Amino acid sequence: MCGIVGYTGARSAVDPLIEGLRRLEYRGYDSAGIALGTPTSLFIEKRAGKLANLESALSPNIPTVHSGISHTRWATHGGPTDRNAHPHVDNEGKLAVIHNGIIENYSELKAELESRGHSFSSDTDTESVAHLLSDLRKEHGGDLTQAMRAAVKLLRGSFTLLAVHADDPERIVGVRRNSPLVAGIGDGENFLASDVAAFIDYTKRAIELGQDEIITITPSSIEIIDLAGKAVAPREYEITWDAAAAQKGGFTHFMLKEIFEQPKAVADTLIGRLSDNDQILIDELHMTDAEIAALKKIVVIACGTAYHAGMVAKYAIEKWAKISVEVEIASEYRYRDPIVDSSTLVVAISQSGETMDTLMAVRHAKAAGARVLAICNTNSSTIPRESDAVIYTHAGPEIAVASTKALLTQIVAVYLLGLKLAQVRKELSDLEVKSIYHQMLELPAQIEQILETVEPLRELTRKFATSDTVLFLGRNVGYPVALEGALKLKELAYIHAEGFAGGELKHGPIALIDSVKQTPVIAILPAGHENALDEKMLSNIQEVKARGARVIVIAQEGDAVVGAEHIIRIPSGPALLQPILATVPLQVFAYEMAVARGNDVDQPRNLAKSVTVE
Ligand code: M6R
Repeated sequence: MCGIVGYTGARSAVDPLIEGLRRLEYRGYDSAGIALGTPTSLFIEKRAGKLANLESALSPNIPTVHSGISHTRWATHGGPTDRNAHPHVDNEGKLAVIHNGIIENYSELKAELESRGHSFSSDTDTESVAHLLSDLRKEHGGDLTQAMRAAVKLLRGSFTLLAVHADDPERIVGVRRNSPLVAGIGDGENFLASDVAAFIDYTKRAIELGQDEIITITPSSIEIIDLAGKAVAPREYEITWDAAAAQKGGFTHFMLKEIFEQPKAVADTLIGRLSDNDQILIDELHMTDAEIAALKKIVVIACGTAYHAGMVAKYAIEKWAKISVEVEIASEYRYRDPIVDSSTLVVAISQSGETMDTLMAVRHAKAAGARVLAICNTNSSTIPRESDAVIYTHAGPEIAVASTKALLTQIVAVYLLGLKLAQVRKELSDLEVKSIYHQMLELPAQIEQILETVEPLRELTRKFATSDTVLFLGRNVGYPVALEGALKLKELAYIHAEGFAGGELKHGPIALIDSVKQTPVIAILPAGHENALDEKMLSNIQEVKARGARVIVIAQEGDAVVGAEHIIRIPSGPALLQPILATVPLQVFAYEMAVARGNDVDQPRNLAKSVTVE
């Protein structure tokens, strides 16, 4: 949603504060701002638009100071303008606040603060916190930490807040509720940020913060208290990935780099999951065999691309483990009356572990008595912390807003889960499980093979760059692949794209085929001949072709294809594993379309990587 950074130490603060924002720009890029703590006052600069605008505003007159806070925004309350950019200050201009999230009761607070003489200069919910903290700090004898503790009790909503005051600029105070905040421990310097990526260049030692915990950092100390004012022991952990992982490494875009990292990401997520006696190893599940045997239902909740991984889970788990699986968009889940109890396993899939819709669904499911398993890529993020168990995917940091490698690793994780459940419930023999696992071990090399031969696809894509609609067709596990292809194209190329189950075509969508515009249709040909699905898809291809569509088919090597203008071949393998391979050309297609149309690939318009509001 928004990215926030705090620094206090011996360096010129502007370096870690701006560099940190560069690493967090994936969280939002509507505006950026900085507050530097000079001994007598605060130096504030903020600009609408990307970080580059702030940087050019800063260069001529930047003071050398050693602490401050910085912010990159995804706008919620108030348009993306200079005046709505963070930091926001009190009326004396001495206290600055940055914020990620939403203050739900900001209008009540604002009315109350205005009646006490405060005047507001932005349309944001955040500014009310700056004025509130200013009053509370005075009431608490100038103690910003105690003022923050008092303020949090008055705030409703989700927030990470950082504040600094000109009278004590080395001290930075932060708090989090339903929104991420981590601390970085340096040598004579300390950091606060939405994500460790912001300070990974400076330290690998991090501290996770719990709900409603208030943290105060100075160059030489880190203190955490809870809402009752009691000291909290820091929960320190080591950051395992290195700084290079958060850089482009010679690729033109993070997205392209991340597409090419997929073989490794899939291999890392798969590694070590089969024991010498052919048992699937997922100790993190924390379930006994009896508990697994007693499961009656699985409910998968997720958003966006992660939801498509959930759809693949349905096909795999129902087929292998014979347990009924429901897949639900997380934002819809808690607003009906979902039927869950202790015999339900709820699986929450999220790359970031911070998606508010998914988090709220997790809380709802837990309150209803379900056991919750998170599948997540981000260590110590909120969703895994609030779940009963977590399977971490090993995709490494995903910086591009469009999710690629995270999806493939999520699909691997749901396959592993499906195999584990099937093995414990004796729906698959050890030999069958071993054979599927070994087929999965071939996936990294097969993805590699697709990526090695991707150049013709990139050329082909450019021919379609002026299309205004692209349709995707899939059947069975190819259906979520079609949905994912369409989502990627909308997100990156800003064109109308829709994914359909092939069988639905004749029930309405076929009317979208325009013979004059020769609407492009990308069809994912089902692997194998189970239920003759491949033949049914070949009929769909004929149907759209007869109405003027230009058809691109994604098909396994050796499978017969009739009626396609272009065929993109992927290595052959079991039908259920096909999404891992078939998704890759669609990612490349969307990437190339975005480049051809001159769009910002890594930071598409209007989006943010991590959506921490409902
Ligand atoms: O972090 P999450 O996996 O919970 O995020 C879910 C969606 O917001 C995310 O997958 C989104 O749809 C991507 N930008 C799609 O590429």
